[in-house]
Amino acid sequence: MSNSKVTERPIYYISTPIYYPSDNLHIGHTYCTVMADAMARFKRLAEYDVMFLTGTDEHGQKIQLIADEAGVSPQEYVDNVVDGIKELWKTMEISYDDFIRTTEPRHEKRVQAIFNKINEKGDIYKGKYEGWYCTPCESYWTDKQLVDGKCPDCGRPVKWASEDAYFFKLSKYEDRLLELFETNPSFLEPETRRNEMVQFVKQGLEDLCISRSTFDWGVKVPIDESQVIYVWLDALTNYVTALGYPEVGDGISQEKYDKYWPADVHLVGKEIVRFHTIIWPAMLMSLDIPLPKQVLGHGWLLLDGGKMSKSKGNIVDPVKLIERYGVDALKYFLLREYSFGQDGLYTNETMINRINSDLANDLGNLLSRTIGMADKYFGGHIEPDKSADGGATEKFGKDLADLATSVAAKVEGHMDKFAFNRALEEIWVLVSRSNKYIDETEPWVLAKDESRAEELKTVLYNLAEALRIISLLIQPYMHHSSDEIRKQLGIGGEEIKWSDASVWGKNASYYVTKGANLFPRIDVAKELEELEALSAPK
Ligand code: MSP
Repeated sequence: MSNSKVTERPIYYISTPIYYPSDNLHIGHTYCTVMADAMARFKRLAEYDVMFLTGTDEHGQKIQLIADEAGVSPQEYVDNVVDGIKELWKTMEISYDDFIRTTEPRHEKRVQAIFNKINEKGDIYKGKYEGWYCTPCESYWTDKQLVDGKCPDCGRPVKWASEDAYFFKLSKYEDRLLELFETNPSFLEPETRRNEMVQFVKQGLEDLCISRSTFDWGVKVPIDESQVIYVWLDALTNYVTALGYPEVGDGISQEKYDKYWPADVHLVGKEIVRFHTIIWPAMLMSLDIPLPKQVLGHGWLLLDGGKMSKSKGNIVDPVKLIERYGVDALKYFLLREYSFGQDGLYTNETMINRINSDLANDLGNLLSRTIGMADKYFGGHIEPDKSADGGATEKFGKDLADLATSVAAKVEGHMDKFAFNRALEEIWVLVSRSNKYIDETEPWVLAKDESRAEELKTVLYNLAEALRIISLLIQPYMHHSSDEIRKQLGIGGEEIKWSDASVWGKNASYYVTKGANLFPRIDVAKELEELEALSAPK
């Protein structure tokens, strides 16, 4: 036994959806993962014990058909795409703690165990799945989905068909779901999505088909080898199977589940909110385990008014953008430009303009001007004037310090609401204020007057302090720039703490060194042309 007190860090568990590895991911998919990454980094900086989960949803008929067309096995097909997805997350420096693939034995065994538990609860029964069947596409469609009475995918005739399948008693949970939305409104945000879900449940829920026998690329139903578990039971459960729930005697303990579940937030796109706020809670209720604290539905990134999709050929490849502008610029743009719950239009022009104005002009110039002047006037060594009289510029310095130390709290407030754009906007108020401080104090004028040398030193010290605080504030969103700023300020090796963002005068002095330009200015016209050429059909 030890006498030392261990202070437990607060827990934070955040997940992205698990992506279909039917094709490479585009910038729309990266949007959600970038938000989750920023939140995970933000919580880590605030000293939380974070679990950030992402992964891939690899079973189902669609993948099987694509693999058949490509002439490879479904496993080979997904292995290849998943390699690419992991490579993309590496390029984007996504700091996930675990990556779950639904084809991993650790997941498959647990999905079967979960099926058994729900079955033992009396919530699964065998019935008939029926609908309009398109034989070439091997897909069922509802009346509403048909286009002119034909298959909406291939346009060929369909026939009424039915097959044996297992069903989950979703309808049994109607009342408890309505109660959930009513008593715990923060469970689903934004509010408009919550209202939609309440309406949906009120119209009456049908039981959910959770198995199929017309294809076999899936986890076998444990009580019936002729069936595979149909996608949503397989997919949604990843959020707990990745934590080791339930124990199945395969040497993986449930320790992480005990520690991290329930999740703080499942971040999902708006079209899959329904699955996460109706089907998933009902399954968890059936399992008698806690519900996630929150599901947040974000909007889509659109291109020319339409959703990005490979089949429409209107996708933007994030790797190409990173190669040109770097990972910090892309992350900054995605987080700054779009409002969480709303759809947003992507254009190359908006992105380049953002990089030029906020990053190259505002932040980049602030750093290079500060370091340049500190270097020119004092050989890089700056410290505040200790004498009582701060000179004519003193009041500007006080203003700057007051503002700088107030930003972290505002950022926290916005981050609580997943308002990444507002958080960054707030940080940029400080960036602009710091640039304005240079205009107010006119260091080049002070430099001409020998008697004001101490005042000039203080001005530069104040700028260094503002930059130190900025470097902490931006760390969750752009860690390279954050590191580079601290490196140029000569404090690169120091441990960083979020709480230091509210402290003025943390460093007694600075020895700064000139470094690379944070964000070179982009020639808009030339760049737009080159980007056009890159995405033009070959
Ligand atoms: N496999 C399911 C999710 C299962 S979660 C238990 C799935 N996969 S998906 O690959 O089709 O989509 C994954 C996520 O990417 C969704 O949240 C979806 O909203 C998001 N996006 C796909 N295209 C998008 C945009 N253009 N913009 C923003 N997000 C988009 O659904």
